[in-house]
Amino acid sequence: MAEPRSAVVTGASRGIGRGIALALARRGWRLTLVARDPARLALVAASAVELGASDVDTVAVDLADPAAPATVLSGYRPDALDALVLAAGVGSAAPLDGYPVGRYDKQFALNTRAPFLLIRSALPLLRAAARRDPAHGARVIALASIGGVYAEPSLAVYGATKAALLALCRGLNAEESAAGVLATAIAPGYVDTDMSAWVHDEVPPSSMIPVSDVVDTVTTLLDLSARTVVNEIVLSRAGTRGYAA
Ligand SMILES: NC(=O)c1ccc[n+]([C@@H]2O[C@H](COP(=O)([O-])OP(=O)(O)OC[C@H]3O[C@@H](n4cnc5c(N)ncnc54)[C@H](OP(=O)(O)O)[C@@H]3O)[C@@H](O)[C@H]2O)c1
Repeated sequence: MAEPRSAVVTGASRGIGRGIALALARRGWRLTLVARDPARLALVAASAVELGASDVDTVAVDLADPAAPATVLSGYRPDALDALVLAAGVGSAAPLDGYPVGRYDKQFALNTRAPFLLIRSALPLLRAAARRDPAHGARVIALASIGGVYAEPSLAVYGATKAALLALCRGLNAEESAAGVLATAIAPGYVDTDMSAWVHDEVPPSSMIPVSDVVDTVTTLLDLSARTVVNEIVLSRAGTRGYAA
């Protein structure tokens, strides 16, 4: 019997990351779920087991801490990693004029440095998965944002963290795709999760992208062959001109 495919999913306790984790569980994947809140992670892990995950580990860690990515992979048991899903992220909206440097640093630490550190430490495991399953290869899937592609007032700093993530994914493809390690940055407009609740007065949840559409995008990417690179996918909200969050 073929080994189950394995994934590390950050931001798995809530929102988009949770949705992706549960979809992979339904497909029998072996999962490592990462976020800060151990109680929420335990609930998602229990649901994942119920839905058919082969095995589930949780790592409760603050990924903004530079030592955390090493912690995530130090306890990782499989000898290969088919998918690294980077969904943990934070956004802090305010105009550039007077923007606090502490908020800038926090967002870059979580949204950009943690993905870089995780990708760098996971590369040997991703390459091992690509050798074992050359048809699919191994994929890094990073949740960027439409704010990393098009300008949005008050989202310049958040957008900058996500633009860097888009560039990291392109760079990874340039360096590793020939060997079967591929990356995609998904850049959605507002998705209906806790993160976008602050904007409900202007953008009602019923007009936001549902988590399930982002999840379906991820599972489609994971079904593709290793011969196809998808650097980025922009998901725009209906009713906008395509360039707005
Ligand atoms: N929602 C949107 O409108 C939208 C649009 C475009 C892109 N995105 C991006 O999509 C990704 C997922 O967003 P979401 O809407 O699902 O957000 P969410 O509902 O706020 O969930 C964020 C997830 O990240 C985890 N997390 C937050 N800070 C963390 C930290 N310091 N260390 C480890 N884990 C941390 C949270 O768990 P804990 O609190 O337990 O740590 C949670 O699991 C993010 O990267 C976001 O930037 C979201």
